[in-house]
Amino acid sequence: MKHLQDTIQLNHGKAFPWLGLGVFQVEDGDTVIAAVEEAIVVGYRHIDTAAIYQNEEGVGEGIRRGMKRTGLQREDLFITSKLWNADQGYDSAIAAYEKSLKNLGLEKLDLYLIHWPVENKYLESWKALEFLYNEGRVGAIGVSNFHIHHLENLLKDATVKPAINQVERHPRLVQNELKSFLDKNGIQAVAWAPLMQGEILHEPVIQAIADRAGKSVAQIVLRWQLQSGWATIPKSIQAKRIQSNAEIFDFSLNDTDMAAISALDQHRRVGPDPDNFDF
Ligand SMILES: NC(=O)c1ccc[n+]([C@@H]2O[C@H](COP(=O)([O-])OP(=O)(O)OC[C@H]3O[C@@H](n4cnc5c(N)ncnc54)[C@H](OP(=O)(O)O)[C@@H]3O)[C@@H](O)[C@H]2O)c1
Repeated sequence: MKHLQDTIQLNHGKAFPWLGLGVFQVEDGDTVIAAVEEAIVVGYRHIDTAAIYQNEEGVGEGIRRGMKRTGLQREDLFITSKLWNADQGYDSAIAAYEKSLKNLGLEKLDLYLIHWPVENKYLESWKALEFLYNEGRVGAIGVSNFHIHHLENLLKDATVKPAINQVERHPRLVQNELKSFLDKNGIQAVAWAPLMQGEILHEPVIQAIADRAGKSVAQIVLRWQLQSGWATIPKSIQAKRIQSNAEIFDFSLNDTDMAAISALDQHRRVGPDPDNFDF
């Protein structure tokens, strides 16, 4: 990947950008509008939101403003949202999808994900997503926070394979076993909390690599994500960081640096374990 607009061909759906903007914990209204607009102007083509973030309306407005400023068309962008846990089930998932479209002011999403593997619900929700996909109402469907055993269970029943599994992934949670499983099954891996929500930004090993490369720690970590085959969606509401987080296509890490970052793995999460969540 050499350019901010470089993409991955998914097993279904349109080409997926390696880098996108995440908007978890970004307030609806002016803040999210400005971040999304800024990202599009800087050259991001993917925006990742979710019903539970309660900012879909602002994301939609940011998209419209970004398109106006850049002259881009809707099909130039890749927009993702997610089905919240309380809406899992067949009819409720379809209704939730329609609600997200309405909030965003869009006719169709490029990707809709099951946000968490809610026990006894996610297979039924997947049937609803398959229906939306087969009807051409969504570009691609996928999952989030699925362990291997959740995916194995889903794949037994599925008629459409997930295009994506979006999970927590950073240098303290490298997820190699999951990545091998996804590769074997043609499912693209996407890293959330790619910067460990800021916790990894003072790590001395990565700082040394950053100093040598003349890059920031955030840029090194994001480059490490891409080079290890993970697309990613760092969040920032600061224009300078939105810009600098995208300046990761003009250098590459050598094998030694890649291995040194991966060796920082401690199997440590900042978010809940998908086998043990209560929401
Ligand atoms: N599927 C899921 O269950 C799930 C869960 C969590 C997140 N996500 C998605 O993944 C996205 C990213 O994850 P995340 O938001 O949890 O964490 P993250 O992207 O790892 O980190 C975001 C934090 O890092 C700061 N930051 C960003 N760029 C920086 C830089 N260059 N230098 C210093 N600090 C920087 C941000 O602050 P400022 O905003 O002030 O810059 C924010 O506090 C989310 O926004 C969301 O779209 C999905």
